Amino acid sequence: MSTEQPGTGRTLNVVVGVTGGIAAYKTIQVVRDLVLAGHSVHVIATDAALRFVGAPTWEAISRNPLNTSIFDDVSSVRHVALGQQADVIVIAPATANTIAKLAAGIADDLLGTTVLASRAPLVIAPAMHTEMWQHPATVANIQTLRARGVTIVGPETGRLTGPDVGPGRVSEPGAIVAAVVAATEATAHDLAGLRVLITAGGTREPIDPVRYVANHSSGKQGVAFALAAAARGADVTVIAAHLDEGPAAALAGAGLDTVEIVRVSTAAELAAAVEERAETASVVIMAAAVADFTPEVTADRKIKKTGQGGRLELVLLRTRDVLGELVAHPVAGRVVVGFAAETAEDRAELIALAREKISRKPADLLVANPVGGGRGFGTDGNDAVVLASSGEVIAEVSGSKREVADAVLDLVLDVIADRQG
Ligand code: CTP
Repeated sequence: MSTEQPGTGRTLNVVVGVTGGIAAYKTIQVVRDLVLAGHSVHVIATDAALRFVGAPTWEAISRNPLNTSIFDDVSSVRHVALGQQADVIVIAPATANTIAKLAAGIADDLLGTTVLASRAPLVIAPAMHTEMWQHPATVANIQTLRARGVTIVGPETGRLTGPDVGPGRVSEPGAIVAAVVAATEATAHDLAGLRVLITAGGTREPIDPVRYVANHSSGKQGVAFALAAAARGADVTVIAAHLDEGPAAALAGAGLDTVEIVRVSTAAELAAAVEERAETASVVIMAAAVADFTPEVTADRKIKKTGQGGRLELVLLRTRDVLGELVAHPVAGRVVVGFAAETAEDRAELIALAREKISRKPADLLVANPVGGGRGFGTDGNDAVVLASSGEVIAEVSGSKREVADAVLDLVLDVIADRQG
């Protein structure tokens, strides 16, 4: 994601999508202008686009490998990573077919998956014949995209590829580049200057060299907090316990120099890592699922099933309650956010359990969400209530984990503003 460079402005991660139209040749200039302005550009070309301009041109101009297929570089989950890392996505030219796919959310190629995996602003520069541009299907699709907040640049009226003249000509590269930069300026850097410490994922408590006690946390919500806070200009440290492959790749692949990643495994390691850094943090977000109990003894060698008399008893001891310790030793100006994952029957029980938790561990905010029965862990969305330290429900947040993260970060800013006000 972006970094501030004194004197040269903001360096952006731009994904440029190229679809199959003769106007693809103009996108070469768009890529060139973005690169010369110091931005990092990754081009995704559809198969049809490559019939107009070939891979060597895109790679030479963008100074990065070309991306064409969902099946390239699968280990880094590229179809998700490109979108998650982007500060902005621009599709130029955008054909009528691509516009229809975007409106419907179709993800049958790398460009489609990248757009769906991204929450960055999207800019499109349509190019097509006038009849196609004016067709009711295209008109409706453009309306849908506009309503979703997509920036539509052009098309211009003028000479088209054939002898015909009318609206449908792709905008000039300068206008497209200007729209790209303007779209990113709308993203607020409202967390600039804040040091945000985030714990993410689930801890693993070793029983012997091959076994451990763990939980279902995927780390998606914690990683969403890290990416959201970084996008909003915060200095971010992630204390990462075990993360599933997707969130791990999203975090590593983000290549953010404003994000420090500290890897831990056990609850004790997580507690030590937080303790070391919490003093100087402006915000601590305890999204990790920290084990409440750990084996009293970790066997040096694998425990064999023979010789156990048909049963194995493990003695588990309480771990340090990291959130409890943080709120017991408040630091002036620091905001602490706790989480409560509860197997509640309904909303009323969820709120009751969350109230009980925040009265015991008085965090500034407590994000409570139902888990179990397929809810919560590992899912892409979240649906939570947020309580203030008084126990009052101050917000209901739902949507993608990124949207939930952004909504909770807005509430953190409210807490900071209330203290100052
Ligand atoms: N947490 C923590 N240290 C632990 C356990 C949990 O810091 N050893 C944090 C979690 O990161 C989360 C919050 O505490 O932000 C709630 O965790 P949870 O285990 O649900 O709460 P408990 O207080 O342990 O209560 P209970 O087991 O009764 O649900």
